[in-house]
Amino acid sequence: MAPLTPTAYDVDRIRWHFPALREGAAHFDGPGGSQVPDAVATAVVETLTSAISNRGGVTAAERRADRVVVEARTAMGDLLAADPNGIVFGRSATELTFQLARTLSKDWGPGDEVVVSRLDHDANVRPWVLAAEASAATVRWADFDPVTGELPPEAVRSVVTDRTRLVAVTAASNLIGTRPDVAAIAEIAHAADALLWVDGVHATAHVLTDLPASGADFWVCSPYKFLGPHLGVLAASPALLETLHPAKLLPSSDAVPERFELGTLPYELLAGTTAAVDFLADLALTDPSHPRRERLVASFAALEEHEDSLLATLEARLRAIPGLTAHSNAQRRTPTLLVTAPGHDPQDLRTALAERGVNAPAGHFYAWECSHHLGLGATGGLRMGLAPYTNADDVDRLATGLEEICGGAR
Ligand SMILES: Cc1ncc(COP(=O)(O)O)c(C=O)c1O
Repeated sequence: MAPLTPTAYDVDRIRWHFPALREGAAHFDGPGGSQVPDAVATAVVETLTSAISNRGGVTAAERRADRVVVEARTAMGDLLAADPNGIVFGRSATELTFQLARTLSKDWGPGDEVVVSRLDHDANVRPWVLAAEASAATVRWADFDPVTGELPPEAVRSVVTDRTRLVAVTAASNLIGTRPDVAAIAEIAHAADALLWVDGVHATAHVLTDLPASGADFWVCSPYKFLGPHLGVLAASPALLETLHPAKLLPSSDAVPERFELGTLPYELLAGTTAAVDFLADLALTDPSHPRRERLVASFAALEEHEDSLLATLEARLRAIPGLTAHSNAQRRTPTLLVTAPGHDPQDLRTALAERGVNAPAGHFYAWECSHHLGLGATGGLRMGLAPYTNADDVDRLATGLEEICGGAR
């Protein structure tokens, strides 16, 4: 096979595939949900308009449903470097975390401990806090540094004990972008015989996941953050899933991963997820004869370079605006910035930007503990996230807008 030679990241070509961009707004709202390429919409529509029924092997309609599920598990396996037989689909990352928290905590009791972090979205906090409460286990909090935005592995180590059953941590903060060292945290958790649950919802859209290398026992993500439809995905090793027994209907399959999937799967959304992974694999337009995982590796490298270079331009301009405070300061982070400006309510900044055709939302984005730990309470800040379709013109519109609203560059 010819060596894999990625082409330059062609953002114009990529943007052409996003019908939503023709409405004209500059989208910095990707961390809340990305825009969707035409191939994803087509896959959803084609699945809904083809003969399809419940999974089975007799009719073409049954076989189509079966194929859609197998293809989606394989696609997610490629995206996360995970075993397709350990891919579980659910309504959302939140729902999957709640469901697995109930299952994992069945044998927790007084004296057992669970570690959560203040850097996390509430979807990776509250399910564990509530599960701990229900089983009389103790919650221990790992704090990030609000000035640097860092959650060093030491902060986790200091709250892990020999009673820790599970550590729940984010692979990237959806509020300030910090990417903790998940592999180091995994070592700490495993040394204490605890499991590591990783919220990969924000990270999966920006950095290519390698589940074995991350050391995570569980990784959740949501395709609607990486160009796909609205659903949630959990990845774990099938052997680990075999040891767990969630509440399920009596007649439904007891096989792994099916026993974790409640009710009929949304086949059209699974087809859309496969299309999203295929689209990501082709971001750097590499030779389709190469395995999808290889193309994903090349494409994410190109995507990271693209996003990093736009982020550098954006940050340089924003940091020159008098009084503007950037709360995204960690060494390793996603291209997601949270800022506040004295005398400007974040919601007013958002509205003023929207009037200029720039979509950048404001708030705490359910990173409740994180926003409070930053001293921003329930108000939060203005959040700007880059996506595969962001271009230099978008960045210029955003930076110019904020310069005008906040009183110009220094
Ligand atoms: C980091 C992070 N975790 C979890 C979630 C919740 O994801 P879902 O909507 O799939 O439940 C989000 C959504 O914004 C998120 O950004």
